[in-house]
Amino acid sequence: MKKRGWITLLCAALLLGGLLAVALGQAPARLPGPAAAGEPLTLMVATDLHYLSPALTDGGAFFMQAVERGDGKLVEYMDQVTDVLADRALELKPDALILTGDLTLNGERQSLVDLAEKLQRVQDGGVPVLLLPGNHDIGSLFACRYEGDTAYLTTNISQGDFRELCAAFGPDRALAADEASFSYVYEAAEDLRLLFLDANAAGSRGKILPETLLWAVQQLKEAREAGAQVLSVTHQNVFPQSQALNKGYVIGNWQEVLALLREGGVRTNLSGHSHFLHRAEEDGFTDYCTEALSVTPLRYALLELDGARRVSYRTESLPLLQEEAAERFDACSRLKLEAAMAALEVPEGEAEAMLDYAVKLNRAYFTGELDGAAAKADPCWALWQTYGGGSFWLDYMESMIEEDA
Ligand SMILES: [Fe+2]
Repeated sequence: MKKRGWITLLCAALLLGGLLAVALGQAPARLPGPAAAGEPLTLMVATDLHYLSPALTDGGAFFMQAVERGDGKLVEYMDQVTDVLADRALELKPDALILTGDLTLNGERQSLVDLAEKLQRVQDGGVPVLLLPGNHDIGSLFACRYEGDTAYLTTNISQGDFRELCAAFGPDRALAADEASFSYVYEAAEDLRLLFLDANAAGSRGKILPETLLWAVQQLKEAREAGAQVLSVTHQNVFPQSQALNKGYVIGNWQEVLALLREGGVRTNLSGHSHFLHRAEEDGFTDYCTEALSVTPLRYALLELDGARRVSYRTESLPLLQEEAAERFDACSRLKLEAAMAALEVPEGEAEAMLDYAVKLNRAYFTGELDGAAAKADPCWALWQTYGGGSFWLDYMESMIEEDA
């Protein structure tokens, strides 16, 4: 063929390719394979999104009342917040985006369908998404849609639904997957594996099932034989993060799980569920509890692993709705405190100062910004000690202050 003929053919091929790309949309980026041994890694971590599909609420009276009397989550904005988290992941391009459970508000199937679409966008952009279910996600009895002044039960998420809707976010690309739960092993690098342990399979009641424990022991053994370190990921904490807030926050059989992880050489766990930012350390084992994304200051974590697989953990806030998130959290604390203080005999002139102090303290504790010594020196603390006797709040604040002082 003459030179001109080749050029014509090349142009036609380019034009056809261009037209096809326009017609089909941009092809999804390929997900990266395991990094080489010793290559630094960055994992982006978010938890407790408590995402509610916009199709399930009209933002009416019942819904807003439930939200305003809740635990401080910015539920009505989570559609927007999740989109910004996805954008941030695509901008940062971490080696993976990890979501440690409580993906949905209360286990609505439609919420998971919508969320999965957003997460697919992240994967299509080349960032692997790895997730776990939380205690709110599977078999929930509280999955509702909200209309006017009523809430109606809606389809919840069965274990099968979860597997079907979320298989692409972990199990499909796993080295090994457990049959009894949504637990799996992901090879982040030739020398680093991530062990996702699911304590929220149907019927597990917040415990890791016995068959899953056996499976995990085998996975840890295989990792050791392959010369790979293992970092674990759970929804509930693997040991108590707080003296005051630990009942129901740790995995039901946490002692057994912790012993198994330690024996397997695991030194770092990532968890959520408690909604506050905290790090618990014991004999060289660290559990990083990331704060709920749905709670002020709408934060995610970046976990960096250097060539020797040493871990550094820091957090960043999403740049939106900061005032709204703080106000929501404080308003919810205030409501609970007002109810608790009604049972105390506090002189009228002191009540407002005590209330403001406790609201501020609670937010500082959740966001990991509490200065225990300063809180102890505040005159309002003396007021609480004088008038707060016998209340949950006094014990709770005492444990926060002592923990940090
Ligand atoms: Fe949870």
